[in-house]
Amino acid sequence: MESIPSNEQIRISIETAQPNDAEEIQNVFYKTWLATYPNNVPGVSVDDVHEHHKEKLSEEGIEKSRKRIEDGLSLENQRFLVAKVDGKIAGVCLATVLEDKNQLNAIYVLPEFQGKGLGYKLWGEVLKFIDQTKDTVVQVVIYNTSAIEFYKRLGFEDTGKRWTDEKFKMKSGATFPEMEMKIAGSNNSKSNS
Ligand SMILES: CC(C)(COP(=O)(O)OP(=O)(O)OC[C@H]1O[C@@H](n2cnc3c(N)ncnc32)[C@H](O)[C@@H]1OP(=O)(O)O)[C@@H](O)C(=O)NCCC(=O)NCCS
Repeated sequence: MESIPSNEQIRISIETAQPNDAEEIQNVFYKTWLATYPNNVPGVSVDDVHEHHKEKLSEEGIEKSRKRIEDGLSLENQRFLVAKVDGKIAGVCLATVLEDKNQLNAIYVLPEFQGKGLGYKLWGEVLKFIDQTKDTVVQVVIYNTSAIEFYKRLGFEDTGKRWTDEKFKMKSGATFPEMEMKIAGSNNSKSNS
């Protein structure tokens, strides 16, 4: 297997996702999902993850993604970012500014590039774009402990909200138990109240 250089040696660039990045982006989602979500407790299998991405990885799926990225480029309230290492996409991040809050929709780094600062760099760019006077929320699968730890490092706190997202029902019928984490906006933080 190709070895990945240590943190000091890799050069990371954060860029806005472009329509032609669609295939690489879908691959990052697929590979990272495979390494993150199969779990016996809710019954999410490798096959579930494969099925969930099958259409997204097909020619039509890539074309759909290409179009969504293209349309997204003109949305003022959304940023779709990619983290590149030596010109190849190793991480992706989508964030949206809504009326009442900022939503961190997704942040995924390829398993072999995790722990090398890509997540931090993506978040740094998100911070420049979001409205920090508003709360920033993220939804995390409750057994995804490494992502929960990562978000804690960024300052997110558990809001106590729990639910199961029926939108992400897997082929096996398994669903994801989710939780919400939040960074209070400067307008809502305790020191200002
Ligand atoms: C969570 C994720 C985005 C973090 O990105 P990353 O590039 O690996 O994180 P970084 O290398 O930038 O690390 C940033 C900080 O988080 C910490 N961190 C990252 N992963 C961690 C882990 N598994 N456990 C504890 N801390 C962790 C790092 O130590 C670092 O903090 P430090 O500088 O104080 O040491 C990435 O690991 C990932 O894609 N995971 C799988 C997909 C996923 O779960 N996405 C979130 C879906 S809600």
